[in-house]
Amino acid sequence: MRQIERSRQLYLRAQEVLVEGVNSPSRGGRFYKPHPLFIDHGRGGHIYDVDDNEYVDLMLGFSALVLGHAHPEIVEALSRAAKAGTHYAAITEIEVKVAERLCQLIPCAERVRFANSGTEATMAAIRLARGFTGRNKFIKFEGHYHGWYDDFLLNCHGRPTDALGTRKDPVLIPDSSGLTRESLANTIVVPWNDIEILLDKANQYKGQIAAIITEPVMSNIGCIPPKPGYLEALRQITRDNGILLIFDEVVTGFRYAPGGCQEYFRVVPDVATFGKAMGAGISIGAVVGKREIMDTFSWGKVLHYGTFNATHLAMEVVHTNLDVLTRNGNANIKHLHDIGNQIIAGLREIFNHRKVPAIVQGFGPMFQIYFTQKESIGDYRDYCSDVDTEKYSRFAHELIKCGVYVTVSNGLHSITCTAHTEEDVDRVLNAADDALGNM
Ligand SMILES: Cc1ncc(COP(=O)(O)O)c(C=O)c1O
Repeated sequence: MRQIERSRQLYLRAQEVLVEGVNSPSRGGRFYKPHPLFIDHGRGGHIYDVDDNEYVDLMLGFSALVLGHAHPEIVEALSRAAKAGTHYAAITEIEVKVAERLCQLIPCAERVRFANSGTEATMAAIRLARGFTGRNKFIKFEGHYHGWYDDFLLNCHGRPTDALGTRKDPVLIPDSSGLTRESLANTIVVPWNDIEILLDKANQYKGQIAAIITEPVMSNIGCIPPKPGYLEALRQITRDNGILLIFDEVVTGFRYAPGGCQEYFRVVPDVATFGKAMGAGISIGAVVGKREIMDTFSWGKVLHYGTFNATHLAMEVVHTNLDVLTRNGNANIKHLHDIGNQIIAGLREIFNHRKVPAIVQGFGPMFQIYFTQKESIGDYRDYCSDVDTEKYSRFAHELIKCGVYVTVSNGLHSITCTAHTEEDVDRVLNAADDALGNM
């Protein structure tokens, strides 16, 4: 029987000094029952809690740890950078080197601007699009999360279907209190994977829309790939209407392909944002894009500041990470796909064998399980109407008990890292079978 007593005691202590005992609500007691686990350390594809339980980690620092925990070359890069001083109020050669690598790897990248997180990158990208086009409105899709900035923070959480409004005219639902009506006034929300409605909105607001921002594979609300031809149609509509296409590759970047989903799907946006896997576990963000657009970040035009933008420490880590990911013909990226595809196939077999109405959606490095009668979940509305999220949470809690650390929120996803092995695949599948048996 697994003991988690030390985690319980630490959680009681944490609640005295941290709001809800955590620093980001999705890690807290609202989701994790009977309480969140305190992690002591991680190594490779595994983490260890303070009660000495070991888990195969399929959360990986909310998708940041593409190389797994404590990768020796990342540890070495951190130590080298720390010894030389972590940050100077000046530019460094390594910034240029990393930017050059990004421009080689990412199809739309001709210029780069670094930030410190995915949220910082997406908020800068929207300001850039507004500054470049002189237009205020932008389109975001239902269920897509781009960070916690005011303009985006709506229609991300799952809700009862009668609260959503019609597909053609979704009700704008802020995901937080403290947002002003004014901050949402220029945000247009439409369902994803639906070209007709998008075209209608583009016509309705002709000449007023600065940008369409999209995750190329939806990584929030689980894992929802684009319908065949959808990203291409987005590219065409934006081009026809003088709208900038922004790919939010904060989750997909450095994972589906070295150049992200834009390389994988061969659809090149005008601007793209990155974070998470780029930093292999350290805090980083980036906006990249076409030269004439990105140059709008110049002095006197669109302002983007940041004390910690492109620290020497962060740049050393990103540089090493890119080396590791792309060496031997991108072998590590291929490994992310192989391991993910093996887990996905194995889980499907288990659900089938046990006659559990569930699907595993996604491919390669990212996937999510939906307990549903449907054959696929195509957008946020399908998720709200046809997915048993409570059942998923019960299953995920059982899986954790069986030694696999996954999100207990159906709205996130599972992810692979380069350190996962075939033995880990077996452990995940055995644990999934046991977890279903225990339910
Ligand atoms: C697609 C996407 N964009 C942006 C962000 C925000 O990134 P960060 O949490 O680093 O601010 C997230 C975070 O989960 C995300 O999933």
